[in-house]
Amino acid sequence: MTQQILTAAEYHRATSYRRHRLTPHTLDWAHQPVLVKRYPELPRVALDRSEKLPEIDYFDLVHRCRTIDSSRSEPLDIQKLSTAFRLTHDVTARREYMGQPFYYRSVASAGALYPFELYLAVHHIDGLDPGVYHYHLLDFSLTALRRGPVPEIPPVDCGVVATVYVTGIFFRSAWKYRSRAYRYVLLDAGHLLENLRLALGALDLSFSIHLDFEDERAATLLGLDPQREACLVCVHLHGDHTGKKKTGAANGPKPLSGEILQASTVSDKEVAYADILTVHRAGNVANNRSVDALPTFHVLGNQPAAWIDLNPPDHPGSADYARVLWQRRSRRNFVPASVPRDGFMTFVDLMTRSMGKASVMPSACRSVLTTGFLTGMGMPISPGFYLLDPDAKRLGRVFDGRLTEPVAAACLDQMWLKHAALHLLFMTDLAALDQTWGPRGYRYAMIEAGSLGQQAYLAATVLGWGVCGIGAIYDREAAVLLDLAVDGALLYLVGAGPVKTR
Ligand SMILES: Cc1cc2nc3c(=O)[nH]c(=O)nc-3n(C[C@H](O)[C@H](O)[C@H](O)COP(=O)(O)O)c2cc1C
Repeated sequence: MTQQILTAAEYHRATSYRRHRLTPHTLDWAHQPVLVKRYPELPRVALDRSEKLPEIDYFDLVHRCRTIDSSRSEPLDIQKLSTAFRLTHDVTARREYMGQPFYYRSVASAGALYPFELYLAVHHIDGLDPGVYHYHLLDFSLTALRRGPVPEIPPVDCGVVATVYVTGIFFRSAWKYRSRAYRYVLLDAGHLLENLRLALGALDLSFSIHLDFEDERAATLLGLDPQREACLVCVHLHGDHTGKKKTGAANGPKPLSGEILQASTVSDKEVAYADILTVHRAGNVANNRSVDALPTFHVLGNQPAAWIDLNPPDHPGSADYARVLWQRRSRRNFVPASVPRDGFMTFVDLMTRSMGKASVMPSACRSVLTTGFLTGMGMPISPGFYLLDPDAKRLGRVFDGRLTEPVAAACLDQMWLKHAALHLLFMTDLAALDQTWGPRGYRYAMIEAGSLGQQAYLAATVLGWGVCGIGAIYDREAAVLLDLAVDGALLYLVGAGPVKTR
């Protein structure tokens, strides 16, 4: 592949799957990436699992997350932080496969490769010294990477007591997906971000999500090897720290030791995929276009001919949020079964609660995606391709027809998908995206698609449905089937619907 990939459209096209043109690739099991970062001996702070998880109704939480007020101040201590980490990323089950332990997690991840990592910069938290820490999932502890005052990255006007950073380690995913892995690293980061967003909402913490920051400064702060691991998302936790000593360092950050950077290496035999590094670097904020006005995004070949109002039941039910999180799994045993209107409307309504004006994502994320879905048989609306208008709470019928089977074929012949009642479709106009934000727009689109994907997993779990994210797509074939515009692309698909029950 070319090394001159400098736009999102170029990267996406260069990493497209084409039927009969997939180059064979055997997995190098001897050099499988490690799933836990290996740091040198550094002090660790144990987190506390003893606190009861908040008993919050999932529906209330999804509504509540809309009303985040970044000027509100909530005290944050290490106990609350422990719970936030637990609700964001935890092991939900352990199994043995071929003599090796496998840890199921609260987050979905393409190929179960889990390229993401979580870090914490502490400014003012009761019970935790200022500094930078890495979250150790299996140990449930924080490894102290840096002690003392740390700069606020990215800088913001309101008080920040701590920042959670989501990073992605390219080779964890590239081991299987090669150059295409950047897509999955971003989608997976979006899945994790959605869990974090809900966790902070459940704990009534005030936060703001940032996808724009100086990549190099963030990498230096966290001690990442920028050839291998990149910071993708910053989430500031806001609170009042008046009366407390200002701890944020004005300058810096100073580079951490080579041994700490070495922990971004996850295999003795890594391959650096040039396409990933070039598109990621091209997306540095310094290369960002300034956005005066959004161009029109041409995603669909045809505009909806008719609209249906979204009409969810007033009382859709209740479900314990933490239990939903622990029950979340990818399920592929979809069965053709009829879906009641209320269930369908509830699912679509839950999705809209994190979209459009209701979204707490940075404004670019709200404009970059077009979300639609395909319906199969047994649905309360006729089989077809629909557009979702989250702000007007309505569905636009783009065209009629049973597309779930051909689209399942376009998803690398994963034919079980044809029985899914609904295929959620996250699409964009790659040319408009590049024109508006430059290649950083690709991060917005994929992270947003991933975070909505995680929301779809949880919403489907609440309804007792099965759900599975699909990143394996013959890209052009899918775009043709959906009759997308010239630069329209299907970035991610999530199948959902009734599954076989025991
Ligand atoms: C971005 C993304 C893409 C995925 N693509 C596929 C896919 O194409 N086919 C599939 O069967 N599963 C796919 N999955 C599901 C993962 O395989 C699944 O999340 C992983 O094995 C972990 O299992 P769990 O979700 O049950 O915890 C995808 C998941 C994500 C997040």
